Amino acid sequence: MRSPALRLSEVTYTYSPGLRPLEALSRVDLEVYRGEFVTLVGPSGCGKTTLLRLVAGLAHPTAGEIEILAGDGGGVGFVFQGGALMPWRTVCANIELPLELAGVASQRRRARAREMMELVGLAGFEDSYPRQLSGGMRQRVALARALADDPALLLLDEPFASLDAFSRERMNEELQRIWLANSKTVVMVTHDIQEAVYLSDRVVVMSQRPGRVKGVFTVPFEHPRPADIRYDREFAALAQHIRQAADSHSSEEEQESISVVAEFF
Ligand SMILES: Nc1ncnc2c1ncn2[C@@H]1O[C@H](COP(=O)(O)OP(=O)(O)OP(=O)(O)O)[C@@H](O)[C@H]1O
Ligand SMILES: [Mg+2]
Repeated sequence: MRSPALRLSEVTYTYSPGLRPLEALSRVDLEVYRGEFVTLVGPSGCGKTTLLRLVAGLAHPTAGEIEILAGDGGGVGFVFQGGALMPWRTVCANIELPLELAGVASQRRRARAREMMELVGLAGFEDSYPRQLSGGMRQRVALARALADDPALLLLDEPFASLDAFSRERMNEELQRIWLANSKTVVMVTHDIQEAVYLSDRVVVMSQRPGRVKGVFTVPFEHPRPADIRYDREFAALAQHIRQAADSHSSEEEQESISVVAEFF
């Protein structure tokens, strides 16, 4: 039995910065299961970051409901778009931050941070500063920090966007390994459809703003997936199918049929 970890029901969000309200999300329905890896793709500005912020509790829906049922007492870990490390803190101190905020004693904090550094392949860089690391290493730090207080739900907002294609594929493999080893529920945003297919159990395609769910694609390949699965015909066909769904400006009826086709894929 699959039990839900996260449920969004008719979630709408409107920014009202001035006189002109801006509807970012419109009636989003989505259920994510425990231990599932779900990826959101969609055009820039369609509300993906907004959706993650709502799930993290950094903002509240204008209408609709978000339920977090992940259980196990774990909270939510967030890797923000662009990484957002504190430049004046060492790598280790960055990773310790959520534990510090949770009031964990310094010795335990340090031990946990070292464990996380091991996990993301950064052992030995404890005392380095973010500016001394490569982009990929900084992303690993951000990931380690998000994992530090053992969240049940991990939210990743374009975590590898700044990396070259080669480093990105390596980080995808790392993330798959970490996800399999820690049985987290993950919701990730990406613009890279290959990355989405490689990592996900399901890929959710969102429409132009106001963002809504336009199609959901199940990725049938078993985990762990080898790196070269990206070159399989079936993989390429699914990626192309998702790309078409993401690109099309077709009517809702046509979109319905895309979802139906996806179910049979
Ligand atoms: N603080 C804010 N105040 C007003 N409008 C905002 C604010 N943050 C985002 N928006 C608007 O809400 C919409 C959705 O933004 P959001 O950042 O969620 O998009 P996104 O899908 O994450 O885009 P990208 O792929 O470029 O990161 C955009 O039109 C954006 O201009
Ligand atoms: Mg965004």
